[in-house]
Amino acid sequence: MDLFVEKIFRWGIIGPGRIAHKFSQSLPFSKNGKLVSVASTSLHRSIGFSQLYGAEYAFGSYEEMLKSGTIDAVYIATPHSFHFDNAALAISAGIPVLCEKPMTLRHPQTNLLADFAREKQVFLMEGMWSMFLPHISKAIEWIDSNKIGEVVHVQADFGYRADYNPEGRLFNPDLGGSVSKDIGIYPLALFYKILGDLEGFQVQGNRAKTGVDQHVIFQGKGRGNATFQGQVSFLTQTEVEAIIFGTEGKIKIESQWFRPTSATLFHKNGTEIFQPKVDSFGFQFEADEVEKCVSNGLTESTRWTLSDSSSMAEYISILEAV
Ligand SMILES: NC(=O)c1ccc[n+]([C@@H]2O[C@H](COP(=O)([O-])OP(=O)(O)OC[C@H]3O[C@@H](n4cnc5c(N)ncnc54)[C@H](OP(=O)(O)O)[C@@H]3O)[C@@H](O)[C@H]2O)c1
Repeated sequence: MDLFVEKIFRWGIIGPGRIAHKFSQSLPFSKNGKLVSVASTSLHRSIGFSQLYGAEYAFGSYEEMLKSGTIDAVYIATPHSFHFDNAALAISAGIPVLCEKPMTLRHPQTNLLADFAREKQVFLMEGMWSMFLPHISKAIEWIDSNKIGEVVHVQADFGYRADYNPEGRLFNPDLGGSVSKDIGIYPLALFYKILGDLEGFQVQGNRAKTGVDQHVIFQGKGRGNATFQGQVSFLTQTEVEAIIFGTEGKIKIESQWFRPTSATLFHKNGTEIFQPKVDSFGFQFEADEVEKCVSNGLTESTRWTLSDSSSMAEYISILEAV
């Protein structure tokens, strides 16, 4: 007699804060992902969070959870300044890691962490969730299948009005504050996915009183001399749209382009709209990628590689030097 055994991929979370809620709300829409364990520096907080999402285990120490044998992968959701230490701890414990973006605070740190994961043969991926969303995949597919001819220019913006709090993680340099680190990585990732290695950066912008970059516009060149132009800001709400211009048409990704939304292809035969139904916030797609890689014994994703994360860290350092 065949017994039906439900397949479960067991997730643990380090740092149950704002983004961890969105990830946890998305997990039920992943293929087999289930939140099983939560670790916080405050046991009270991990108990509260685990009860909210029906996770079985709550820990008052990250290390305890990593050594508990209760999880197949960990999602690191602390501010950027803690990513390196938290991810290194998980890698040392042999636990596959999905680490929130940006992977670390600096380019050399990202390379060090990537090398450590490779040496230990433990899976590591930066949580560039937008790059796994169906409408972004569709836009790339349209480009690869020559629907808009040769790409000439890509533009994308992401700005919002952030409350100025010198202690909070957006503006506090000790917590990795910086608009380039927080959201600059989104347009950079899109440009890089479409244009390959980016070069010739020209950057303008300004800094907050705490010294961190808060408003940055930038442009440069990628593959085939195609150009890119981006804007990120903590000072103003921008359109949050992305447009890819080609010699035979264009693709517009509607606001807010980095979240689940729609993409429209404009070409000589008319228009095509791709508007997939996505449940929840859309973090399930990156979670599925981690499960697929880990289940297949891979130590890195081919869709968002450690080398891609290294490039992001390099480009972020160019933007934040504004
Ligand atoms: N993918 C996205 O769309 C998205 C959106 C927003 C943020 N993010 C990324 O997610 C990460 C977390 O951002 P968030 O806004 O969710 O963070 P958060 O809510 O401020 O904090 C999350 C957790 O980090 C730890 N933490 C926060 N501040 C700390 C401090 N000063 N000292 C020590 N630990 C601290 C706490 O963990 P304990 O409970 O263990 O103490 C907290 O529960 C960032 O890297 C950010 O870039 C991603």
